[in-house]
Amino acid sequence: MAAPTDRPATTTDAGVPVESDEHSLTVGPGGPILLQDAYLIEQMAQFNRERIPERQPHAKGSGAFGRFEVTADVSQYTKAALFQPGAKTEMVARFSTVAGERGSPDTWRDPRGFALKFYTSQGNYDMVGNNTPVFFIKDPMKFQHFIRSQKRRADNNLRDHDMQWDFWTLSPESAHQVTWLMGDRGVPRSWRHMNGYTSHTYMWINEKGQQFWVKYHFKTDQGIECFTQHEADQMAAADTDYHTRDLFEHIAAGDYPSWTLYVQIMPYEDAKTYRFNPFDLTKVWPHGDYPLIEVGRMTLDRNPTDNHAEIEQAAFQPNNLVPGIGPSPDRMLLGRLFSYADAHRARIGVNYQQLPVNAPVSAVQSYSKDGVMAYRKVTDPVYAPNSKGGPAADSETHRPPTWQADGDITRAAYVSHAEDDDWTQPGTLVREVMDDGARDRLVDNVVGHLLNGVTEPVLERAFEYWKNIDSTVGKRIEAGVRSKQAEKDPKARDQANPARSTMQQKA
Ligand code: NDP
Ligand code: HEM
Repeated sequence: MAAPTDRPATTTDAGVPVESDEHSLTVGPGGPILLQDAYLIEQMAQFNRERIPERQPHAKGSGAFGRFEVTADVSQYTKAALFQPGAKTEMVARFSTVAGERGSPDTWRDPRGFALKFYTSQGNYDMVGNNTPVFFIKDPMKFQHFIRSQKRRADNNLRDHDMQWDFWTLSPESAHQVTWLMGDRGVPRSWRHMNGYTSHTYMWINEKGQQFWVKYHFKTDQGIECFTQHEADQMAAADTDYHTRDLFEHIAAGDYPSWTLYVQIMPYEDAKTYRFNPFDLTKVWPHGDYPLIEVGRMTLDRNPTDNHAEIEQAAFQPNNLVPGIGPSPDRMLLGRLFSYADAHRARIGVNYQQLPVNAPVSAVQSYSKDGVMAYRKVTDPVYAPNSKGGPAADSETHRPPTWQADGDITRAAYVSHAEDDDWTQPGTLVREVMDDGARDRLVDNVVGHLLNGVTEPVLERAFEYWKNIDSTVGKRIEAGVRSKQAEKDPKARDQANPARSTMQQKA
């Protein structure tokens, strides 16, 4: 068939024109296919290699491009170029769920990833946060175990609420994040309708070298909206990719979502004596102690045209920190500084940073060379130190962020601060932030979750866990589970109500 003249000719991946998009090369119309049909073989071979491994956690997600514009002056706290007055920085964002695989429903109850890569003049800055201000655990040693407890069992390959609650109730530090997750915000209506947080504390450093502790809050300009459990379940059945579709369609229609970035700033010296450990990822800094300070606005206004190349291969890593921004003593963060680049080397390949979505807009002058799929050209000299004009690191201009640490090498919990405990902040969330309706939905959500396969003794521990958070809510959860069990199981019903059992025997 002659090709239409108004369309470009199909070629092989080497750019050679091909004869047909439809027919294999055969010996006569009824004869065998020929091995010399290199184009057919290229199509099959390429197809067989289309999938790369999905991310271990956060496999299901999508994203878009946009920009971050500074609207206020925070230069007294950081010298980072992207946060200077008037700065505009191109960026990419990816939103995700944590536990499900690449095809899993967008509306399952789960924290949402909120990963941002800013292409700054000082190199890439990645803010790899979530839609929650806290996390389930506070030591990276437990992360792998935590994620396994959320994913699939070894024997039947099923997800299992019993193992989720087993892990949570044996890890009381999870109480704040679990309360948050089981509340209304555990299922956002869309990615456009949720906030994003660093969750971790980071360090900011200004031009004078003064250091501050900082937490970021990206507040949605669309307003917070959530799905109830019932709505989320219905949507999971009706449209698995609802959040992916929502983001893409709104951007395509010119309805660009935006978020206003605020920070909480803690003076460096406050950290030692603050009532909570400010580096404990299971705690927030109450706004009354450290109010929100406006920084700027992030707007997403461009969809990917090749989701695989631009989103699936996007590689976010919390260790991409630019001058003016540093880590903090938060152990989880320090663990993450290693984990992500390692994951990218395993999932995408050692030269993943050369892919367009991951490449910085500033010059790369590193001594890395070669490796699979190396694309960036390396020039001599290939070693340092050298006297041949190669790049030279400047330890005067680029001093590492620093804090004091001492003590014997040990495996131990954080040193406690005055009000550190696992129950106070989730209790505040239940009693002071949620209203009656939100508390009712929290109780319903937890009861429904527990009734879905949680067995003794985990169930009994779950009641205690909730009573520690709030005794009224805990008792309501216990009563809710026990009465539903009694409805389903006559034996349990009779145990719960011996009088009824005696009456039945008489009858
Ligand atoms: P504030 O009253 O100043 O702040 C309460 C915060 O809770 C607001 O950020 C609000 O977000 C958010 N919120 C409202 N409803 C819910 C919900 N159903 N689930 C989760 N968050 C919700 O109080 P404090 O700063 O003293 O914090 C009190 C408690 O609020 C904390 O223990 C923590 O659980 C929770 N919280 C605190 C945050 C912080 O950084 N301080 C951030 C988020 C939650 P919005 O203003 O966008 O509606
Ligand atoms: C993804 C590790 C805690 C947010 C990932 C991935 C790994 C990982 C290996 C997959 C990366 C990839 O293949 O691209 C860890 C470890 C943690 C930890 C070891 C604790 C020690 C957290 C916390 C947050 C977070 C506390 C949020 C504050 C994310 C996000 C993604 C992700 C948003 C998806 C990024 C994307 O969209 O590509 N994590 N994680 N993680 N993690 Fe974590």
